Amino acid sequence: MATTAKRPAPNPLRAGLRVGGASVPTVFVIYGASGDLSQRKLLPAIYNLAVRGLLPNRFAVIGYARSDMDNESFREFARAAVEKFSRTPVDDHLWQAFAQLLHYQSGSFDEEGFRVLGDRLEAIDAGHGTGGNRVYYLSTPASFFPVIVQAMGATRLNRPPGVARVVIEKPFGHDLVSARELADVVHRSFRENQIYRIDHYLGKETVQNIFAFRFANAIFEPVWNNTHVDHVQITVGESIGVEHRAAFYEETGVVRDIVQNHLLQVFSLVAMEPPAAFDADPIRDEKAKLLRATKPMTLENAVRGQYGDGYVAGEQAAAYLDEPNVPPDSNTPTYIAARLEIGNWRWAGTPFYIRAGKRLAKRVTEVAVQFKRPPHLPFPVDAVEQLEPNALVLRIQPDEGISLRFGAKSPTPTLALRTVNMDFLYGSAFLAEVPEAYETLILDAVRGDGTLFTRQDSVERSWEIVDPLLEQWRKGAPQVYPAGSWGPDLADELLSRDGRRWRRP
Ligand SMILES: NC(=O)c1ccc[n+]([C@@H]2O[C@H](COP(=O)([O-])OP(=O)(O)OC[C@H]3O[C@@H](n4cnc5c(N)ncnc54)[C@H](OP(=O)(O)O)[C@@H]3O)[C@@H](O)[C@H]2O)c1
Repeated sequence: MATTAKRPAPNPLRAGLRVGGASVPTVFVIYGASGDLSQRKLLPAIYNLAVRGLLPNRFAVIGYARSDMDNESFREFARAAVEKFSRTPVDDHLWQAFAQLLHYQSGSFDEEGFRVLGDRLEAIDAGHGTGGNRVYYLSTPASFFPVIVQAMGATRLNRPPGVARVVIEKPFGHDLVSARELADVVHRSFRENQIYRIDHYLGKETVQNIFAFRFANAIFEPVWNNTHVDHVQITVGESIGVEHRAAFYEETGVVRDIVQNHLLQVFSLVAMEPPAAFDADPIRDEKAKLLRATKPMTLENAVRGQYGDGYVAGEQAAAYLDEPNVPPDSNTPTYIAARLEIGNWRWAGTPFYIRAGKRLAKRVTEVAVQFKRPPHLPFPVDAVEQLEPNALVLRIQPDEGISLRFGAKSPTPTLALRTVNMDFLYGSAFLAEVPEAYETLILDAVRGDGTLFTRQDSVERSWEIVDPLLEQWRKGAPQVYPAGSWGPDLADELLSRDGRRWRRP
């Protein structure tokens, strides 16, 4: 009788393996695994990476928090989170294999708890062959960041047998002084190149495409300067209000929530010099150089607003001061418009106008590069009355894409020029679903690629840019704007005094 050789069962998680995945065996530790971010973003992102075959062959996750769970209940918890928040539906067959990678340890952020965690990690290394390589993800309130890294140092979790990296969620301090204090504490346990400061904006495909657009094409870079660009507008608009996060937002406000991190990161990608290589340090060097050339924000060049009541998309919206848990005399700004100036050869004299706010007319993030008018228009005046200058708009979200505005002859018997748009849409061009930013960033942390993470010098310089304004805005009151509008009147004046106006996204 013929015997059939027993073949190992195929690992369903390796099906459809794509290039570009991580290969170094790793244990991914989530501090705060029972929390909101873990459920909404981290666990679904790790599941989707597994489904796409991008995780290392030898990989495991251990969740850590106080909630009383064991491996089994954590797997159920993770499944519920993935079912609710994953961009792809859960596949039962794949889930069974994936669930075996998930572990849980309950404990507090103290040395006693971390010693137990250390023992668990050793056992996981032995069971999964993960070789002592660790990525520690701090998904906890910011006040715990120093506590956790200190306790990791004391219990030597920062010195596992393999490689250790630590991923830190924003905020990285609430001003320059606290950002430096936090860095000092973290640097006692980890070297700078082990620290991955996450700004999920940088994980967005469209934000990364700013690099590709600028540096993979020959035709845009020659006009990307003050000779050709009149000004740039960067808009980060949200239609939602503060929702249930008033306590957090009262401490934060729009500058700390959006400008110091997301907006200045997008700004630096748009304005930086070409890096020598697409590697973490050359790119981060250029971003840091650009931020150093950016002048700190001033009272004269900035406007603050706070939403009043109004209508957003036809729905009635309450004023910020009427939101639950907002003090009636709060002067927290929910809107900012500002003029940023860059003191370098490329951009001197070309302002970058930024605006960000809650309860605006719509949710949109875009960068609009407005070019100068042609030096001479050889057309009758009435033919060019409606002609707008060229503009290139990089739409980060939603309707991800790029559009170029230019003048064209309208098909009429008399000469008339009109402005038209040429559009590129991500969705239809690539016919692929765009991965979530957290998938990209978690994979990069596991691979040890720090390109899309923020380095301490940029964090500090960003605080230096916004701190003077934050200090001056402690007093006084923001101008109230109706919910569902594009911000306060003063924001329009900020541009009109320069002979310019905001575009309607
Ligand atoms: N949520 C988001 O969408 C979002 C977005 C961007 C950035 N972030 C940032 O991500 C971080 C996490 O936010 P989050 O919204 O997920 O916070 P969260 O829901 O409050 O979660 C905090 C986690 O920490 C655990 N924890 C709290 N105190 C602990 C202690 N003493 N010992 C051990 N575990 C403790 C909690 O679990 P137990 O109660 O079970 O201990 C929970 O798992 C924050 O820095 C936040 O700014 C969040």
